[in-house]
Order: sequence, then C-alpha cells, then structure tokens
Amino acid sequence: MNKCNIDLLNQHFIIMENKITFQFISEPTDVNFGGKVHGGAVMKWIDQTAFACASSWAEGYCVTIYAGGIRFYKPILIGNLVKVVAKVIYTGKTSIHIAVDVYSRKISEFEFNKTTHCVIVFVSVDEAGKPKPVNSWTPMTEKDKHMEHYAKKLMQLRKDIEVEMQPFLKEYL
Ligand SMILES: CC(C)(COP(=O)(O)OP(=O)(O)OC[C@H]1O[C@@H](n2cnc3c(N)ncnc32)[C@H](O)[C@@H]1OP(=O)(O)O)[C@@H](O)C(=O)NCCC(=O)NCCS
Repeated sequence: MNKCNIDLLNQHFIIMENKITFQFISEPTDVNFGGKVHGGAVMKWIDQTAFACASSWAEGYCVTIYAGGIRFYKPILIGNLVKVVAKVIYTGKTSIHIAVDVYSRKISEFEFNKTTHCVIVFVSVDEAGKPKPVNSWTPMTEKDKHMEHYAKKLMQLRKDIEVEMQPFLKEYL
C-alpha cells in the first residue's frame, strides 16, 4: 500500500491507496490431512493481509472486531502461487471494513482462480486499546460504490446474526 504526498500548484494532497496484495508460494508446512492447503493457513493469510491493509489505512494499530462468512470456493494446492488481495470497502467512525479475496494458480500457468472470499472488520485503537477515529474512505468508482453498498448490507445482516448469537456469547459450564 502506498501513501504519497503530492504538492500540486502549491496545494498539498495526500493520496492513500485502499488496497494491499500479498503474493507467495504455499509451502509443505501448510498442508492439511487431505494433502492440500489447510483452511487455518488460509485464514491466517487473510487476517495478516487484512491487518496490513487496515493498519496502513488507519496509520496505526488496529484489532479485528469481526471475522465471519469465510467462503472457501476451491482448494489451494501445495506449491501453488497464492495471491491475497485486501481492500478497504467501507469506513465508519472507528471501524474499517476490509474485503479479502484469495486467488491461486500453478506456477506454470498464468491465470489465477479465486478460491476464497470474506469481509473482516477492524477497529483502530489507541494505546489504551480504545477505539479511535479513522480517515474516512470515499468510494470513487462504480465498483467501489457497489462494494460499499455490500459492506453496509453485511452490517445489517450481522446485527440480525448478533441477536441470534447473543445467548451463546455467555459462558456455559
Ligand atoms: C475492538 C474493541 C476495542 C471495540 O470496543 P467496543 O467498545 O466493543 O466497540 P464500540 O461499541 O466502541 O464500537 C467500535 C466499532 O466497532 C463496530 N462494531 C461493534 N460491534 C461490531 C460487530 N459485531 N461487527 C462489526 N463491527 C462492530 C462499531 O460499529 C464501531 O464502529 P464505528 O465507530 O465505525 O461505528 C473491543 O471490542 C476489543 O478490544 N475487542 C477484542 C479485539 C481483539 O482482541 N481482536 C482479536 C485479536 S486482534
């Protein structure tokens, strides 16, 4: 993710990109019992990339407040090239909503296949761990607007899920 300061005709603009991409090769240590990449390894990559994206946008430390709805479409093979793309798709007062897509391809091929998708929500926090305001993200393109709409819709759905989950958030012994 780049943040560039541009001085144009004595006007100072700060341009912040809302996207970060990790690329690497899946390793033998990422294997599951079926010989492919472990779902837990994919979740770790998703969390790391989304964390890097959120913290860069917030210009400070962020914590995950919500991760859910991870959809694994296709398996990833060991030794494949993996690409994890994290994008800011919505910002609230203190929260940053990140859409994450995971792609993979054989090293010998050119085309990536999408394997996984989810949206993770981070909150920017201060030194005491309390939520602190974030730079707001403004969607510019039609695709950005579509993604922001998607984030807002998920927020609404999440409220209904929270109501259903409420009795199970308490500890039962
Ligand atoms: C993140 C944390 C500081 C937030 O504090 P809080 O008092 O619970 O949260 P608040 O009610 O002030 O809400 C903060 C933001 O989270 C959002 N939020 C709250 N519940 C949410 C949920 N279930 N899903 C998504 N966002 C949620 C709020 O909408 C608010 O965003 P906004 O300011 O953009 O509107 C606190 O919940 C916490 O420390 N959680 C543990 C984090 C953690 O350990 N993560 C895993 C390791 S990184």
